[in-house]
Amino acid sequence: MDLDLKGKSVVVTGGGSNIGRAIVMAFAQEGANITIADIDAEQACKVADLAVAKGASDAQVVRTDVTSFDDVTSMFSSAKTKFGSVDVLVNNVGWDKLMYFTQTTPDFWQKLIQINYVGVLNCTKAALDIMIPQKSGAIVSMSSDASRQGEPREAVYGGLKAAVNAFMKTIARENGRYGIRCNVVCPGVTVPESAEEVSGTSMWFTPGAMFTDDQLEKVAQILPLKKIGRPADVAGAVVFLSSGAARYITGQVLSASGGYSMVG
Ligand SMILES: NC(=O)c1ccc[n+]([C@@H]2O[C@H](COP(=O)([O-])OP(=O)(O)OC[C@H]3O[C@@H](n4cnc5c(N)ncnc54)[C@H](O)[C@@H]3O)[C@@H](O)[C@H]2O)c1
Repeated sequence: MDLDLKGKSVVVTGGGSNIGRAIVMAFAQEGANITIADIDAEQACKVADLAVAKGASDAQVVRTDVTSFDDVTSMFSSAKTKFGSVDVLVNNVGWDKLMYFTQTTPDFWQKLIQINYVGVLNCTKAALDIMIPQKSGAIVSMSSDASRQGEPREAVYGGLKAAVNAFMKTIARENGRYGIRCNVVCPGVTVPESAEEVSGTSMWFTPGAMFTDDQLEKVAQILPLKKIGRPADVAGAVVFLSSGAARYITGQVLSASGGYSMVG
């Protein structure tokens, strides 16, 4: 099946690390023109080089802090100038530190709100300003099964990811008339294959900081597919929802989590 992504202009935020990196590689295999918007430009440049080697039509890095609207608008302007349009936005940046809610502080909540929610608002607004006049586009936002399951130690993050789900449904309803589709992918625990796949700013940079090997083994046992997710296990769902194969799908929340969430 032709996914109709060859030569398309795709922006992936946080494309330098783990799931974002795998998403970049999956779009590269489809021959897309890719803009990686990441706060860690050095790591993102390594990913861009690899993307071109894997088949991307072209790939550029624009150092971007998604919490800054000015950074975000100039990044989208660069993508449009270089590639002529912005056809796909993947809102992939996200961050958390696992703690019980009673251990968290207002400063921590504000950091989570900025990275996990305001970043999505900034990028979606700037993308729509380009996609509405061109009367086409696809936006996929990365949420989490924590938005659907009520995960211990992810109270504020889970609440913000649920906000992303609700936000994307409204954006889908408001912008379908312009030929713009908006969907959400919810990973479960998704662990990098190797240290070179993560940036210094990644949640996964310090081995064991998120989960110990013992905890990961227990998580695998409760999953119907009995396997911890790897970044490439999630990337296919993002590419599908961005592609012509999903042309009649909008406003949906899809878990790519080994069956952890099953929502009817
Ligand atoms: N990995 C998981 O287990 C998991 C599970 C559920 C949901 N998710 C979601 O999937 C997405 C990707 O997760 P991951 O594990 O690949 O993350 P990661 O921490 O490995 O990578 C995040 C990337 O975003 C970049 N980044 C961080 N803050 C930024 C900012 N302000 N502006 C621009 N770039 C910034 C980092 O440099 C890094 O390249 C996130 O939205 C996350 O919440 C991940």
